[in-house]
Order: sequence, then C-alpha cells, then structure tokens
Amino acid sequence: MRILTVCLGNICRSPMAEGVLRHRARTEGLAIVTDSAGTSRHHTGEAPDPRAQAAMRRQGIDIADLRARQVLPADFDRFDLLLAMDADNLHDLQQLAPDAARRDNAMLIMDFAPRHALREVPDPYYGGDAGFDAVYRMLDQAVTGLLAHIRHGR
Ligand code: 4NP
Repeated sequence: MRILTVCLGNICRSPMAEGVLRHRARTEGLAIVTDSAGTSRHHTGEAPDPRAQAAMRRQGIDIADLRARQVLPADFDRFDLLLAMDADNLHDLQQLAPDAARRDNAMLIMDFAPRHALREVPDPYYGGDAGFDAVYRMLDQAVTGLLAHIRHGR
C-alpha cells in the first residue's frame, strides 16, 4: 500500500498526516509506503513548519526529516491513495489525474473519519499552536479509520 498525503504548502497539514501515518504503520506493523506533497511549489525543499514539528513532538513523533515538494501527475501512478486535506487541495489534485479511474484514488483524508464533525482539515498556517494540536487530533482519527480500512478491506 502506497499513500500520499496532500495539502497546499506541504509544510503543515500533509507532513503531519504523513508523520502520523508513518508512525502508526511502523508501530502497528503495517507495510505502508508514505509520502506527502503540496499543490503549490512555494515551499519546495523546506522542512515542516516549526509549529507542525512541535505539535508532532508533543505526541512523540519526529517529522524533522521531511522536505516539501510539489505534487506531480506521476504521483497517480506511484500511489494507491492520494489523500487531500481540504476541498481545494482535492480539486487541484483531481486536475492532475491522468484518467478517471486514477482520479478516483484521490479522496479527502477525513472521508476515513466519517463520524468527525469536519470534512476538511483547516489550514493552521495563520493561527497558533492550538490549531496545530487540533489538526493532529483530526489526522489521528482519520488515520485510525484508514488503517482499519486497509486491514479489513472496507
Ligand atoms: P499547509 O499550510 O498547506 O498545511 O502546508 C500552508 C502553508 C503555507 C501557506 C499556506 C498554507 N502559505 O500560504 O505559504
């Protein structure tokens, strides 16, 4: 299973999502290839935002090694699932899909947390630390649902 998480800048939400998924796949013994990317190329090469790194460190998860890159059409061949943080990210991602079948592999990450009140992960960039902690909690719920889906094929 190969999973790409996608946001706008690839320095806040999607590297946090990648970090949660990578950490839980490792600790729960699931073979999942993870990566993340941004629909914008603005932050290419940057490490995750210090506030995102700090929020993850509060959960015992290190994402300092991750580096931002822009999402590519070829990512639809390289990944089984492409999980967008919000509707804008999903829309931009779908524009890159080579065909309709592969476009269906792009979803909202919160589709895997159907009982959560929010369908989109809010952009924490212009807010404070509490926003990053809230993003972590949302992503943790989504990853729980995603891993159940992978284990049980539903
Ligand atoms: P992300 O957050 O999409 O979660 O990585 C953002 C990072 C940077 C910007 C916007 C959102 N920016 O406008 O620079």
